[in-house]
Amino acid sequence: MIESDPDHPLDPVIDLSGLTLRRGPRTVLADLSLQVGPGEIYALLGGNGAGKSTTLAVLLGFLAPDSGVARVAGVDPAVAPDQARRQIAYLPESVALYDQLTAHENIAYFMALAGSEPGPDIIDAALDAAGLQSEARTRRVGGYSKGMRQKVAIAMAVLREVPVLLLDEPTSGLDPRATADFNALLGRLKARGTAILMVTHDLLGAADCADRIGFLAGGRIVEEVRPAEGIDVMALHHRYGEVAAA
Ligand SMILES: Nc1ncnc2c1ncn2[C@@H]1O[C@H](COP(=O)(O)OP(=O)(O)O)[C@@H](O)[C@H]1O
Ligand SMILES: [Mg+2]
Repeated sequence: MIESDPDHPLDPVIDLSGLTLRRGPRTVLADLSLQVGPGEIYALLGGNGAGKSTTLAVLLGFLAPDSGVARVAGVDPAVAPDQARRQIAYLPESVALYDQLTAHENIAYFMALAGSEPGPDIIDAALDAAGLQSEARTRRVGGYSKGMRQKVAIAMAVLREVPVLLLDEPTSGLDPRATADFNALLGRLKARGTAILMVTHDLLGAADCADRIGFLAGGRIVEEVRPAEGIDVMALHHRYGEVAAA
């Protein structure tokens, strides 16, 4: 378990510094800076169009900023996108799996693409860690719920042992029970030292699992809070009305 000590912060694994990014006439990111350390969960909240997915796209090397620098485990994704992506497990809002394949087969396939061949026992252990019920594992994922698909994706993130996990609205469409399970799962990756950046609309869920919550508006972080220090969720909800709307 990696403890974060505010007086001696570990080097950030995710490091965004002064990012500005324009799309057409719009300035989507405006001097955005944010750091996430090893074993830290950072929840990024913001209304529709605030620039949350854009921020993830910069980290993944799909969009280059007009100014400022991003680093993922020391790698600038604008310079070396493939190298940056090898450091990252990314959960898009809807996880892309092959519906005709089972959970096991999907994982074996995607891991092979990433150049590794975990045996069935290793895949099972990862699915155990992700909490996917064993009777589901030999069924085609076409019949899975969103929560079950995410567990398969999380199992892959566990197997890849990458330092960075990026999640885009992972709990939208999950019921409260599945959301709580999911947040508990993130806690396990955190305990392994993974730096986790989660984009979300869910202030309550974020308050439950995140070390820090940043509110994105006008392309920059306008406020940052640490739930462990005690936060007034209702006051935040009022201050960021549309931002915090679930
Ligand atoms: N493909 C695109 N082309 C041009 N502008 C875009 C595109 N996608 C998003 N944008 C602009 O970037 C802004 C931020 O989008 P996005 O990062 O997807 O927001 P969020 O994920 O916070 O809802 C949007 O308001 C939109 O104006
Ligand atoms: Mg988005």
